[in-house]
Amino acid sequence: MQWKQLLTSAVGKKFVMGFTGLFLVLFLIVHCSINFCIFVPDHGKTFLEVAHFMGFNWIMHILELGLFVGIFAHIIQGWALTLQNRNKRPVQYAVSRRNQNSTWYSRSMGLLGTLIFIFLLVHWANFWAPNRYHMITGGKELNLFERMKSLFSHGWLVIFYLAGLFSLFWHLLHGFQSAFRTFGLDSGKYIPLIRGIGTAYSILVPVIFALMPVSIYFGWVS
Ligand code: HEM
Repeated sequence: MQWKQLLTSAVGKKFVMGFTGLFLVLFLIVHCSINFCIFVPDHGKTFLEVAHFMGFNWIMHILELGLFVGIFAHIIQGWALTLQNRNKRPVQYAVSRRNQNSTWYSRSMGLLGTLIFIFLLVHWANFWAPNRYHMITGGKELNLFERMKSLFSHGWLVIFYLAGLFSLFWHLLHGFQSAFRTFGLDSGKYIPLIRGIGTAYSILVPVIFALMPVSIYFGWVS
């Protein structure tokens, strides 16, 4: 497949979606593991040490650049694919036919992806942007543990995060199956195992993330 086809054909777009999606899946494991350190009962010491290592390291800055390229490639190709699929079907199917053909979350990948994008914009404004601003102007990081505690003392923000994480859960659930199909991993004896790992990941990662704002809000982490 040529570069142009990779960006313009439906199969090429799906390939970019699957590849960047799996890269983001790996990122979420690292992100979730680092943040999980807030549960070490040492008033955020371990979490801040790990976050410092990740923030002040040139390899991490290169990976960060790759991460942002991956996120935007995934979003842009996702929107393009949603539009392409919609335009292919000028006459919408009757309700019963649509329900037979695909489940609700498979049809709503574009909508869920957009909700996650809105979540990400707020999330970056909460943590990433002020932290980078502080690093550039003051030469040191924000205390991200204190920032989490102060932000997640607001119930409405906790609810917003929970809604974002619920969208992530639905999006991942379908995204995994879709990526496996794109890479030809949807037949053979390992399918139940691969599907099981995909489903377990889609539930576990958003639940662990959700525990963070909830625990801080209720004062279980201090
Ligand atoms: C409640 C759950 C979460 C918490 C408490 C949290 C916390 C943080 C913090 C503290 C940072 C700043 C790191 C830094 O400045 O070096 C950050 C960055 C980031 N977060 Fe989250 N996060 C959560 C969930 C998520 C989710 C679900 C996603 C993706 C869907 C996500 C994507 C990102 C990205 C892409 C960055 C920028 C990473 C970087 O450039 O190093 N986060 N998050």
